[in-house]
Amino acid sequence: MTESQKTYHSEEVKTDKQVILEINDLHKSFGDNHVLNGFNMKLFKGESLVIMGKSGSGKSVMIKCMVGLMTPDKGRVNIMGKSILDLGQAELDQLRADIGFLFQGSALYDSMTVRENLEFPLRRHMDRFDSDLNTEELVIEALENVGLADTVDLMPSELSGGMQRRVALARTLILRPKIILYDEPTSGLDPITAKEIIILMQNIQEKYGTSSIIITHDVDCARVVGDRMILLIDGINYKAGHFKELSLSEDPKIKAFFKQ
Ligand SMILES: Nc1ncnc2c1ncn2[C@@H]1O[C@H](COP(=O)(O)OP(=O)(O)OP(=O)(O)O)[C@@H](O)[C@H]1O
Ligand SMILES: [Mg+2]
Repeated sequence: MTESQKTYHSEEVKTDKQVILEINDLHKSFGDNHVLNGFNMKLFKGESLVIMGKSGSGKSVMIKCMVGLMTPDKGRVNIMGKSILDLGQAELDQLRADIGFLFQGSALYDSMTVRENLEFPLRRHMDRFDSDLNTEELVIEALENVGLADTVDLMPSELSGGMQRRVALARTLILRPKIILYDEPTSGLDPITAKEIIILMQNIQEKYGTSSIIITHDVDCARVVGDRMILLIDGINYKAGHFKELSLSEDPKIKAFFKQ
């Protein structure tokens, strides 16, 4: 057992998978509002980890602290062996290029076509690709992954909400991230469109072997895509385990998540 696996729950101790992201003792308050009170978690390589928590429980705050968009009051975040709080801006930018975000609401740039939206992150990170980079091929490949190659010349306003979400997912994928952070990927979508997004997320995971953190309120999404899940309650990792195990819990705080 490695040092990093010692403190974890029984089912994870059995794995010899590499830890790709680890959070230790994360604290974050806004005045008297103590949002995170010593949150711990690990993400294993190739895993899809679902994080559930009530609205306002600190899921988005946690994800922002995770990637250096917000500074925690205390705690450590380690991504691919690097302590992100110790990184300078240039190193942080470099590391962030390996992390794809699908943010809550995931807005596309309204004044840009779908192509321009996808080219945007590419231009910032040209150095990641060979010098004979063919931008158009990368854009089309990313859009093909979400089944929307034919929308390349459209404006976001010409797309439905579900299509916009898929284009945002394509934009996330274009830099071939090693880790994808999804903050509410299915919120605001009807159940059928939500299911399409869930299937796409699974396909991406299989095709690219990415590791993912999925923040969601959607029990269906958690059941289908999550290899494992964490319940964020009272600012801590209240319980981690497999969907089935958690969904059968008699603990009222846990049961509340599974009432549909
Ligand atoms: N920049 C900020 N300044 C002050 N308070 C903040 C800030 N960001 C978040 N908060 C507070 O932190 C708490 C957690 O917010 P967060 O957005 O992380 O919730 P969440 O779990 O993502 O909720 P939801 O499921 O609704 O997205 C809330 O009480 C929120 O008001
Ligand atoms: Mg949120």
